Amino acid sequence: MVPGVNGELVRARGLTKRFGDFDAVRGIDLDVRPGEAFGFLGPNGAGKSSTMRMVSCVSPRTDGELTVLGMDPRTQGPDIRARLGVVPQQDNLDFELTVRQNLHVYGRYFGLSRAHVRAKAVELLEFAQLTDRADDQVEPLSGGMKRRLTIARSLINDPELLLLDEPTTGLDPQARHLLWDRLFRLRQQGVTLIVTTHYMDEAEQLCDRLVVMDGGKIVAEGSPGELIARYCSREVLELRFTGEHKDVDVHGLAERVEILPDRLLLYTDNGEAALAAVYQRGLTPVTSLVRRGTLEDVFLRLTGRTLVD
Ligand SMILES: Nc1ncnc2c1ncn2[C@@H]1O[C@H](COP(=O)(O)OP(=O)(O)O)[C@@H](O)[C@H]1O
Ligand SMILES: [Mg+2]
Repeated sequence: MVPGVNGELVRARGLTKRFGDFDAVRGIDLDVRPGEAFGFLGPNGAGKSSTMRMVSCVSPRTDGELTVLGMDPRTQGPDIRARLGVVPQQDNLDFELTVRQNLHVYGRYFGLSRAHVRAKAVELLEFAQLTDRADDQVEPLSGGMKRRLTIARSLINDPELLLLDEPTTGLDPQARHLLWDRLFRLRQQGVTLIVTTHYMDEAEQLCDRLVVMDGGKIVAEGSPGELIARYCSREVLELRFTGEHKDVDVHGLAERVEILPDRLLLYTDNGEAALAAVYQRGLTPVTSLVRRGTLEDVFLRLTGRTLVD
């Protein structure tokens, strides 16, 4: 069966979620294609989890159209869920069971045979690099291990589509990189990924295509490279001055300037040339940094705010 009209795995039009009189998701349109890693990038409160919960058929939509794997979550929730993997924002593992038992119980819940689940669990423990912890309780595992176990568990039914809500929030850099590596492998195996994140580096690392979400709306859509090319310059010169930098005159030194509380951002295709021009004007920043444009700059441009507060 070909899901969706044009083969999309998820299709939404005017998708809306209302809590009381508050619209958490305000009429968004989405098309997620087979094999891609699709991202939602946005700050806390943007409506990412609310959207993921509608797609994963745990929260009904208030309005709009939604099809997942060509089916309607309103009427075919269980059929959809059987083919999805879901990693919620908060791990909901059973702490009293062992690592392996968590996989077994979940697999049985999908109605898979005991023998199948047992073999699949061995494979997934290896994938999640948890084989040597298989018979340990979940409770004392590190945050990164718990997250990897939740991902392993979500794969027990060989899902075609894997939904990951903030997969690395709260993890240290090493644990994040290990997890990104596992997600990269899944992508190579052809699993379609939908990831939400408020980390721009995670979105850049993982996503082929993403939407930037803010206040329940999609404010931009594209690949990380396209979004940076469209809303940012090739390079950014960051300047810090002592005291009040609001009065520092950098007018004409860059295509665009953002004034943040602690620094100035000069958007330009040549950061070193802009820095030379800054000194020529007699300005003396305490620190300066030339870097490439990022999705953080895209978000700032689109919303006037930074992603992580
Ligand atoms: N069950 C709920 N009841 C009322 N408001 C909610 C509920 N869930 C989420 N919200 C509100 O909806 C908005 C979007 O939340 P959420 O989808 O969790 O955003 P994100 O995942 O991007 O941080 C927030 O303002 C949040 O407080
Ligand atoms: Mg969330």
